[in-house]
Amino acid sequence: MRQRIIAGNWKMYKTIAEAEQFANAVKQAELSATVEKVICAPFTALSALSAILKGTEIKLGAQNVHFAEEGAYTGEISPLMLKELGVDYVIIGHSERRQYFNETDETVNKKVKAALQHGLKPIICVGETLAEYEANETEAVVRRQTEAALQGLSAEQVSVSVIAYEPVWAIGTGKSSTAENANQTIAYIRHVIASQFDQDTANAVRIQYGGSVKPDNVAGFLQQSDIDGALVGGASLTVEGYLGLIAGA
Ligand code: G3P
Repeated sequence: MRQRIIAGNWKMYKTIAEAEQFANAVKQAELSATVEKVICAPFTALSALSAILKGTEIKLGAQNVHFAEEGAYTGEISPLMLKELGVDYVIIGHSERRQYFNETDETVNKKVKAALQHGLKPIICVGETLAEYEANETEAVVRRQTEAALQGLSAEQVSVSVIAYEPVWAIGTGKSSTAENANQTIAYIRHVIASQFDQDTANAVRIQYGGSVKPDNVAGFLQQSDIDGALVGGASLTVEGYLGLIAGA
């Protein structure tokens, strides 16, 4: 049985004060114990959130990481630095990073390896653009991105990783994929992992859907056979939204 996982991706939103307010409110709420809960916050808020969420069931995630442990990489954050802050998860290869910050399949692979080596669980994002979707290239794109991201990992490392299928055309647009279509692509990603590794590994890895997920549609996605959770942007920014997503899951 794969444990469900709801992760909020705050992107470049929330000051430290806003993050603290959010965490203090969420901490008071009764949360489902069966769903794994993660908040992926901006780097600047991680330290404050780590202190507030310590001892709770809510895990902390970052939104990017560099692959080196340290070095002359101005503006970057290393996996060691994230570990020191009590971070458990890190989003790698989000489409916004691929689109605006030159993230490539190769850098995604390096970052995934570095994260795992330092005990951080990667949430690896894959997904096609609108043009690729319209050209019927969804499967080819997610195959290429998945195989590249997981290249050189052990089956055990893949099993503890999380993949997020986020069709780029569904992100922040209010136009989510249908649950059935998302499930079909996610089942395909599992099939890719079975060919690259083995069936047990493919059965173990958790795959989320992301793209305009809200409290009122999250259940529809999670009822599908292959969808194990959601990576949520906009709807995870309010306390009601985040709690609604967990309740819905
Ligand atoms: O990583 C989550 C994301 O890209 C989806 O964003 O706002 O459509 O839930 P949103």
